[in-house]
Formats: sequence, structure tokens, C-alpha cells
Amino acid sequence: MDFGTLGYDAFMRYFEKNGLDAMRSRVLQGVAGRVLELGPGTGINLGYYDSRKITSLTYLDLKIRPGLVKKARALCPDITLRTGDAGGLPFEDGSFDHVVFTLVFCSVADPIKGLQEVRRVLRPGGTLHFIEHVQPPGGLLRPVFNQLNPLWRRIAGGCNLNRSTLELMTEVFSEVRVVDRRFSDIFVGGTARP
Ligand SMILES: C[S@@+](CC[C@H](N)C(=O)[O-])C[C@H]1O[C@@H](n2cnc3c(N)ncnc32)[C@H](O)[C@@H]1O
Repeated sequence: MDFGTLGYDAFMRYFEKNGLDAMRSRVLQGVAGRVLELGPGTGINLGYYDSRKITSLTYLDLKIRPGLVKKARALCPDITLRTGDAGGLPFEDGSFDHVVFTLVFCSVADPIKGLQEVRRVLRPGGTLHFIEHVQPPGGLLRPVFNQLNPLWRRIAGGCNLNRSTLELMTEVFSEVRVVDRRFSDIFVGGTARP
């Protein structure tokens, strides 16, 4: 989804106020050491990190937004920004203690490849922290989202409303733990370990 920096933050304000901020707090607890965040966008997750615990922060996004470097440096002096695709991570195996992505895998072209890459760059015993919007579990919303998806993908930068990202994660990670679900279970947050 790419509405531009201001547009995106304004669009998301409703969700943040109504529970997404609480989800971020829960899911991002414990993020520490060498951290990789995929698709940081405008850097909203910075507000949920404990700067005393993060030794280095690496961002990878299709496009690095203006202002992100300055915001991130205020939290962690050791910051690396890379432009790239989550489907092919330019990092050595086991480079990170924690990997974070929030609301990103709905639009990654090959999500399984991207998740395998996340698993590869996590050190043994490292943790993935995620929040994704996923296919509605049932009811009326499910067929509505399926109908809307082709149009939504076009106007929202390739974002899919009906992707089963949680199921895909269980194919790649052995230990997936959901810690929060909100908005009729469409937003799911948790952790996973290789
Ligand atoms: C909906 S925004 C989410 C921003 C932020 N993480 C949040 O929680 O609000 C999606 C972000 O993922 C990035 N993104 C989308 N597809 C990507 C890909 N294949 N590889 C890396 N980043 C990607 C976009 O550029 C954008 O910054």
C-alpha cells in the first residue's frame, strides 16, 4: 500500500487508535540486539522499540521514505538502510537476533520465498515479530474481500486483502505463536521461531 507518507499515516490513524497501537506494543516486546525490519514505511514501529536494548537496526524497504533515517538515528546510532525486496535479502545467514515486519507480507510478490529468507537471516534461536492483515476467517467479509481484491491490489500497491499469511508462516516456521487478533480477526500479530 503506498498512498504517500502523509496519506498512509492518516489512513492508518483509525486502526492505530482502535487497537493497532496496542498490538504493536505487545508484539514488539523483546525486540533487541541486531534487528532487521522489513518494510518500515514511515518508521511507525520506532515508537515501540526500547532503544537501550537495540544494538543495530537495519531497514530494508522497496523505497526508503524521506525522514526515516533521521527518525531512526534518534533511536539507534547504528542504522543501515537498504533498498530491496523481502523476497531476496542481501544479508548473510544468521545475521539478526530479531526480524520485524508489520503489514508488509500482504504485498510481497512471493511470500513463501520472503518468509524463507527471513528464516535464513535469523540466527538460531532468533525471533520473528509480525503483524499482518489476513483473509477474514469467515462470514460475510470473506467473500466481500475476495470480490474487492483485484481492484484493491491495483489501487493499493499490490496489497492483497485475502492472503492467508498466517498459514504460510506455519509452512516455514516451526513455532508460530499468535499473541493478538483484532478487527474481526483480520489483523493478527505474534512471533515465530525457525
Ligand atoms: C502498508 S506499509 C506498512 C508500513 C509499516 N510497516 C506499518 O506497520 O505501518 C508496507 C510497507 O512494506 C513495503 N513493502 C511492500 N512490499 C515489499 C517487499 N516486497 N519488500 C520490502 N518491502 C516491501 C512498502 O514499501 C511499505 O513501506
